[in-house]
Amino acid sequence: MEYRVTPAASLRGHIRLPGDKSISHRYAMIAAVAEGTTRIQNYSSGADCHSTLGCVRALGIPVTVEGTTVMVEGKGLDGLSAPTAALDAGNSGSTIRMLSGMLAAQPFETVIGGDESLSRRPMERIMKPLREMGAELSARDGKYPPITIKGAKLRAIQYEPPMASAQVKTCVLFAGLHTEGVTSVVERVQTRDHTEVALQAFGAEIEKNGPVLSIHGRPQLKAQNLYVPGDLSSASFFLVAANLVPHSTIIIEGVGLSPSRTKLLDWLLGTGAEIRLMDVAQTAGETIGTLKVTGRQVRGGVIEGAMTAALIDEIPVLAVLGAMSRDGITVKDAAELRVKETDRIATVAENFGRMGIKIQTAADGFHVPGGQRFRGATVDSFGDHRIGMAFAVAGLAADGETRVENAQAASVSFPEFYATLEQLRDPA
Ligand code: S3P
Repeated sequence: MEYRVTPAASLRGHIRLPGDKSISHRYAMIAAVAEGTTRIQNYSSGADCHSTLGCVRALGIPVTVEGTTVMVEGKGLDGLSAPTAALDAGNSGSTIRMLSGMLAAQPFETVIGGDESLSRRPMERIMKPLREMGAELSARDGKYPPITIKGAKLRAIQYEPPMASAQVKTCVLFAGLHTEGVTSVVERVQTRDHTEVALQAFGAEIEKNGPVLSIHGRPQLKAQNLYVPGDLSSASFFLVAANLVPHSTIIIEGVGLSPSRTKLLDWLLGTGAEIRLMDVAQTAGETIGTLKVTGRQVRGGVIEGAMTAALIDEIPVLAVLGAMSRDGITVKDAAELRVKETDRIATVAENFGRMGIKIQTAADGFHVPGGQRFRGATVDSFGDHRIGMAFAVAGLAADGETRVENAQAASVSFPEFYATLEQLRDPA
């Protein structure tokens, strides 16, 4: 599908977003090994989270979906059964990496793989700790999906991942869930904490001592009634759009505001954006609230170190913002961007080139000078949801028409994205 964007005069209105992708995955996986039926409302409509549901079903757990409400009939820690075919994680790195932690503890062998993009993404990062815990794993060329996991009775370990990754942390904690004793992950750079928060909501015992996060193995997890807050990473496209298109005000209701994700808001506020938080509340340990963004030109700035890890999914759209900011944007310490759904440094640079935007790239980051204007052009999502959505946003503020090829990639996290964008266009 090709999406055509013409410049917008202004963006105005109230929107709600699909449930947070990270939280939806975790709720579905933990519900599968909890006892009883968990009800999850506002479950992400994105294809990635539905890949997780497909895998959970294939492991013998009944799942029903009615609109965005999902019921998972959990069978306890020992309730998963051997699938009759390879599990399909689709495009979802979260599904394959996080679920592998549970699969490593099963008394059966599982093969898990996914689409072409997922098949190019590195898996040694989870294979190493799971082997240390006692599982046997093999992968294509030793590191790419599909991976074959021969489960075992695991031993508790303390593991320090070599990169900042919530997926790796979750994989080890999920393996630790099934293991006698205390399993720990040492996290020097804090990543999103939805796993810790969700496990506690289901009744697990988690401790945090400085950078060391520990889980007591074999807890009794109880089914829950849950509501997934809207996805702040999906909100980022509208937060940026409002700052690119003059005279814009957008109200985004019911968004997840986990302190482990709101560095995005801190960064935007620090660069001069006007964002107000309203109606803040708590649900199952997660924070939820409404955001009101009033557009203006921001200053731009630097993203590096722990900030890069905290903003990793938002960097493509922040690059778009940076090009039209006063001073530009510099991103450092972002080698992880090279191993996302696409090499996001390369795909941002390619689309920038097509739209007449200057960018200097490095192995682990880039610099985009400020004060530039997008030229309407034909760009591509390259099959990457966040690249497709980021460049649809660029098109709103470009001179002339922009065509986003392979725009359907957005459905991985946000099938309603283009319709939501259209809804905000000022009819005048
Ligand atoms: C996610 C963690 C991040 C992020 C991904 C979702 C999660 O990946 O990029 O979109 O839900 O834990 P890494 O942990 O690999 O950085």
